[in-house]
Amino acid sequence: MTKNKTIIVSNRLPVKIVEKDGVYELSPSEGGLATGLGSIYKTGDNVWIGWPGLEVPEDRQQEVTEKLAELNLIPVFLSNEEIYQYYEGFSNEVLWPVFHYMTTYANYEQSYWDFYQTVNTKFADAVEAHLHEGDTVWVHDYQLLLLPGLVRARQAHVTIGFFQHIPFPSYEIFRLIPWREELLAGMFGADLLGFHTFDDVRHFLSAASKLSTSKYANNVITYNERQIVVEAFPMGIDDDKFERLADNERVSAHIQSFKESKQGSRMILSIDRLDYSKGIIPRLQAFELFLHLHPQYIEKVELYMIVVPSRDTVPQYKELREQIDQLVGNINAKFRTLNWAPVHYFYRSFPIEFLSALYRTADVCLVTPMRDGMNLVSKEFVASKTDNRGVLILSEMAGASKELNDALIVNPNNIGEIMRNLLQALNMSEQEQEHRMKSMRAIVKKFNIHLWVKNFMDKLNEVKEMQAALL
Ligand code: UDP
Ligand code: G6P
Repeated sequence: MTKNKTIIVSNRLPVKIVEKDGVYELSPSEGGLATGLGSIYKTGDNVWIGWPGLEVPEDRQQEVTEKLAELNLIPVFLSNEEIYQYYEGFSNEVLWPVFHYMTTYANYEQSYWDFYQTVNTKFADAVEAHLHEGDTVWVHDYQLLLLPGLVRARQAHVTIGFFQHIPFPSYEIFRLIPWREELLAGMFGADLLGFHTFDDVRHFLSAASKLSTSKYANNVITYNERQIVVEAFPMGIDDDKFERLADNERVSAHIQSFKESKQGSRMILSIDRLDYSKGIIPRLQAFELFLHLHPQYIEKVELYMIVVPSRDTVPQYKELREQIDQLVGNINAKFRTLNWAPVHYFYRSFPIEFLSALYRTADVCLVTPMRDGMNLVSKEFVASKTDNRGVLILSEMAGASKELNDALIVNPNNIGEIMRNLLQALNMSEQEQEHRMKSMRAIVKKFNIHLWVKNFMDKLNEVKEMQAALL
């Protein structure tokens, strides 16, 4: 019998099923949750429960279950209707825009909410089926806000941690959601609630005290006679993995081919999922303004822009894709020369060796989200810079900006400011680059993913001890 394992639960598994000519293949999932936790969940008897990324017909579910079991992964199968209503609908047309302060994008459909409840219950069934005494349940992210409460209702004493990978908005924003009380009650099922930043914690405590009967003091909420601790755990990355990639042959080959194709021009890098929260349009506008006001950089700089396809069945994402296509086309048409194009735009995902080569080659990494829980791309760039060269330009709205103080910090709405920082980055002395990069690398190294997991788990155990002492 398995004992004392951790059951990780998130909407998306760290790998997704992709169908090619009727054959199911596994491919790594994108996004910070999957990449961040992907390298650490495999310890011990841990398992990970989640959705494999597409609708699997009933007669093939056994095949998929067996394939995933080899990796300690347990699938929750969703129908196309559930994917539409719960994932695209409530998760990504209500919670995502509201939690990222884009409230005008929210679509408060009753049927989205109905399915959100049903699918969270489906996840609770999966957890219950694999839960043994002594196990810890660790729920991740906004798609499963009701899950802690649903599991608690079935197993009163189970240990439940919850971590939210996206921002928690201020009370004035959160209160707009028609089902706000129910969402909070779901989260209160956890023993420990973790967020990336102190601001998220503050916002959560304020919403909790105004919208529920809970009381709090010193980050401890009392709700229905249970104590729940709320704390900030800024997520780190597997820094060693990015350092080790420096010696990888494929990475070196990619770096060599970038150098040959760049012909001495400087590389500016941007990597995001397709998302309106990432500030891709203002970033392109800032680059356009830069070329317009500083024509001496024509043929001297190139923007490599990776946009990873994401949620493109949701209307706002589809629109954003069209806007990016158009703007990139305009910039290239306006500034290109016979031998040079200013923007190299890729709408696809890449293997980690290719990303590592980009990180290592880039002179500047431009990370300008309108809102971002943490933003792991910025940390991956820093970890990859083993030569301590290169400049990070980072939005003050990304959780990472609280830690990476030595980046050039910008307001992502201020196109002029992004443009001026780009100029500063391209002219920064090697000495200053080294100074800033060294201090950021020390932070990324110290507060890595292993420490993040340890801190969260230690705290969760402490909370259980505190609760037991109060009984
Ligand atoms: N990423 C990836 N494939 C790609 C491009 C990016 O797996 O082709 C990863 C990237 O390495 C990073 C994650 O996607 O770990 C993005 O995480 P981040 O926290 O920056 O943003 P999120 O997508 O979670 O909002
Ligand atoms: C962010 C969210 C994750 C999500 C990821 C990718 O990182 O915090 O929960 O998995 O984006 O988005 P997707 O909708 O493709 O799972």
